[in-house]
Amino acid sequence: MAAILSSSLFATSSLPKPFSYSRTHTAPQFLRARASLLQDNEEKVIVQDSFPSKSSPLHTANGKSAADSINTSAFEKRIIKVEQSVNIFLTDSVIKILDTLYHDRDYARFYVLETIARVPYFAFMSVLHMYESFGWWRRADYLKVHFAESWNEMHHLLIMEELGGNAWWFDRFLAQHIAIFYYIMTVLMYAVSPRMAYHFSECVESHAFETYDKFIKAQGEELKKMPPPEVAVNYYTGDDLYLFDEFQTSRVPNSRRPKIENLYDVFVNIRDDEAEHCKTMKACQTHGNLRSPHSYAEDDDVSVCALEADCEGIVDCIKKSVTPNPAKVK
Ligand SMILES: [Fe+2]
Ligand SMILES: [Fe+2]
Repeated sequence: MAAILSSSLFATSSLPKPFSYSRTHTAPQFLRARASLLQDNEEKVIVQDSFPSKSSPLHTANGKSAADSINTSAFEKRIIKVEQSVNIFLTDSVIKILDTLYHDRDYARFYVLETIARVPYFAFMSVLHMYESFGWWRRADYLKVHFAESWNEMHHLLIMEELGGNAWWFDRFLAQHIAIFYYIMTVLMYAVSPRMAYHFSECVESHAFETYDKFIKAQGEELKKMPPPEVAVNYYTGDDLYLFDEFQTSRVPNSRRPKIENLYDVFVNIRDDEAEHCKTMKACQTHGNLRSPHSYAEDDDVSVCALEADCEGIVDCIKKSVTPNPAKVK
């Protein structure tokens, strides 16, 4: 139920087929890629200076997921299909509920969805901290990127608050209690199947993109006449944009620098942020795939994670923790 409620905050009826890519090499360490985003031809988001990293969905061309990998067995593919079907059913179901509750109050709707939007990233970090405490799995990149993602979503929330989305007690009550259930659900799902939890978040982020995209198209002219909230100007155009770059794992740092002149610009950038979250969540569905975009400046092909403990999900972690490691026994 928590899953249903939380994911339904994003108002669209079907999951997007978000990205189509083409790419050409220009340098050995990274390539420039152009990606036209999502279904609508009118507004395209051009992605440039993208990494050829495993963390980029460029590696799953034409929207293919981990399930399409040639290394995935038929049995595993079936499991992935079940996981994804459950996630899609949950998100589609909740969308209908939220459409009913918030069909005529956009900012309240955005406030509710942004309240819960950072919850999964906090939940991922909670589980990863636990693994780290037990010495099961250590990946600094995951902690850094997920924190940057939650930091970005928190600023979306601050913007919605400044726009008055939290004015009603009912909306605050609903959002905050959904957040608690969503946290518990995500922790459990992430511990059992990180792949499923990341896919669920991809569904949520995809719906977030579509929700803002529709809003921009419907209200664009009005939004252009309105001033931007101060918090948005500070966040998108401040001096320190390290965390802003950090959550965009398929982009080279410094390659996206928004201009915020009115409320329209703010919502365009929030929408584009959701697209970046979506790409990052897609990349995460392949175990061990994620890298901080800043890490490319620090090392080349040698992964800093290669020597660290590795396991996938709590069952695998416990299994490996009780199995003697030949390398350590020697
Ligand atoms: Fe958001
Ligand atoms: Fe989001």
